[in-house]
Amino acid sequence: MPRARRAGTISTPSCWPVPARPVSGKQSTLITGIGELVTNDQGRYAAVTGAALVMAGGTVAWTGPASRAPAADVAVDAAGRAVLPGFADSHAHLVFAGERSAEFAARMAGRPYRAGGILATVEATRAASDAVLRANLRRLAAEMLRQGTTTFECKSGYGLTVPDEARGLAFAAEVTPEVTYLGAHVVPPEYAGDPAGYVDLVCGPMLDACAPSARWVDVFCAEGAFGAGEAAAILAAGQAAGLAARVHANQLGPGPGVRVAAEAGAASADHCTFLTRADMDALASASVVATLLPGAEFGTRQPFPDARLLLDAGVTVALATDCNPGSSFTSSMPFCIALAVREMRMTTEEAVWAATAGGARALRRTDIGHLGPGARADLIMLDAPSHAYLAYRPGVPQIAAVWQAGRLVAGSVS
Ligand code: NIG
Ligand code: FE
Repeated sequence: MPRARRAGTISTPSCWPVPARPVSGKQSTLITGIGELVTNDQGRYAAVTGAALVMAGGTVAWTGPASRAPAADVAVDAAGRAVLPGFADSHAHLVFAGERSAEFAARMAGRPYRAGGILATVEATRAASDAVLRANLRRLAAEMLRQGTTTFECKSGYGLTVPDEARGLAFAAEVTPEVTYLGAHVVPPEYAGDPAGYVDLVCGPMLDACAPSARWVDVFCAEGAFGAGEAAAILAAGQAAGLAARVHANQLGPGPGVRVAAEAGAASADHCTFLTRADMDALASASVVATLLPGAEFGTRQPFPDARLLLDAGVTVALATDCNPGSSFTSSMPFCIALAVREMRMTTEEAVWAATAGGARALRRTDIGHLGPGARADLIMLDAPSHAYLAYRPGVPQIAAVWQAGRLVAGSVS
């Protein structure tokens, strides 16, 4: 064991709610005594036991047997606990005001989920001050971080006017690089008689105002939202403005969303609750990630998609929270992992891969979701000896510590 002082105070991540306190990025940290180190080496689920890991300069510098660990400035003894890549939550709607607990309670009493509920949040979001919107967003981002999410995507979609969409995306860009323009969430009431006019706005002035803050363009392709032709036009306009595509697809019933995503070369088709065999084949052959959102099925009492069928068809599967005030008001990736294992026929290994490396694929990121040398040092230590505990002990807080780019940003290591 090298001579080293104990790990220091918690620092704030670079891309997160509160500006970072100055902490030396040059300081190296050794975590030793790791009961199970999930590395996701070679693009697949992979784990080693009795391991150690060194991070330096914000990336993973070394992994190997604890007995051969090199020295570092700071040493942390995992004491047999598991270390995993931080979760990559590739689907979340965090810019909103208000809440819809009464709608949730009514659903649990038997009322079906309808896209129309979104408009209640649109009204509250438009009426909210900048300070309220920012505070809500940062509270949820901090909540995610404490639960081990080191990368998250954030959509607009509750503003639906040019200034309100632009404002939401500018706030999102303050806390994450994975910002998604979702002006095409639903048609707002003022365009109820002119949906084509709204599509023109989304593809024109609204896109112009929003593209500078965004990396992605998304569309809710569903009955009550946007049809196949509209969705394809919106994605094409976004792509022409330099954004990459992702799609809310096949959430409320069978439909064209997955096909539209495949034809647009989208990174991900999200929800995928109602799929045909042709949809699965299209996802596999176009290399579109299927991002499954079990929190939404939980919150809307819809059937869970069968991840086993997708995996067996050769589709890359990601898991994400869909955190939003309507269909899925959870920010917890561990909860989604537990649901996926219990309800979607995923193994514990598949679910953890989907929540880490799968999310990275859905965001076309190669620097996160794995823990080999050179990867960004985004990682979590569990209060448990193996990844399986995330599903085995559902609902129990088990994230002991979180590092982001090599900095301890949540929890403690004592
Ligand atoms: O992903 N499907 C569209 N959007 C969200 C729900 C938004 C809401 O109900 O407020 C979703 O489930
Ligand atoms: Fe969503």
